[in-house]
Amino acid sequence: PREQVPVITIDGPTASGKGTLASTLAAALGYHFLDSGSLYRVAALASLQAGVSDSDGPGIAAVIATLRLRFDGPRLYLGDTEVSEELRREDVGSRASRISALADVRAALYALQVSFRRPPGLVADGRDMGTVIFPDAQLKVFLTASAATRAERRHKQLISKGMPSNIDSLRADLEARDARDRTRAIAPLQPAEDAQLLDNSAQAVEESVAVVLDWWAKRRPFG
Ligand code: DC
Repeated sequence: PREQVPVITIDGPTASGKGTLASTLAAALGYHFLDSGSLYRVAALASLQAGVSDSDGPGIAAVIATLRLRFDGPRLYLGDTEVSEELRREDVGSRASRISALADVRAALYALQVSFRRPPGLVADGRDMGTVIFPDAQLKVFLTASAATRAERRHKQLISKGMPSNIDSLRADLEARDARDRTRAIAPLQPAEDAQLLDNSAQAVEESVAVVLDWWAKRRPFG
């Protein structure tokens, strides 16, 4: 049964390094990886292309129901088109944050997320992985980093891709998005009661990975 398949959840705010931590852990453990934010981003992009308003929950849920999604490692295809790059756009991220406050949208993505729980295990990152999607996860991590650190990381990422970036507006945007994700009525961004808190502001990726692998080793025998 699905509940016996081990899951590690990594929740936290924008640009906290969840994605890097979670995908590195998944590779180290040989587990599947779920970047749940990418599903909200795909829903944002596809509903934008379909001309559906960002406040039309049933309309967006209908778009989600017809999505032809395919994952190929880190690449995501919508139909035959690779959309991995487009999903990272700031306007897509901010629309994802707005539509993720809608109950219909969250419900429409529920089953798809749960279906990632397959042997030998899963590492899932997002906002509500430990609170709503996998409440019985064997290890829950809540990852944070200061807003300044997060803005700086996102800034470097954009610059390295040759994309325009302004650190002050980035920081303002990510603080606005966090505030919205934290205060929404449904599945707000908050640590699960039984989550382990990890602040990686002053940590290299390898250090955070080592900390979580150590926590995981102490929880075995799972996976
Ligand atoms: O992690 P991210 O920046 O790719 O996520 C984009 C948006 O999707 C984020 O602002 C909030 C939403 N989201 C969510 O509500 N629940 C999740 N599990 C993951 C993302």
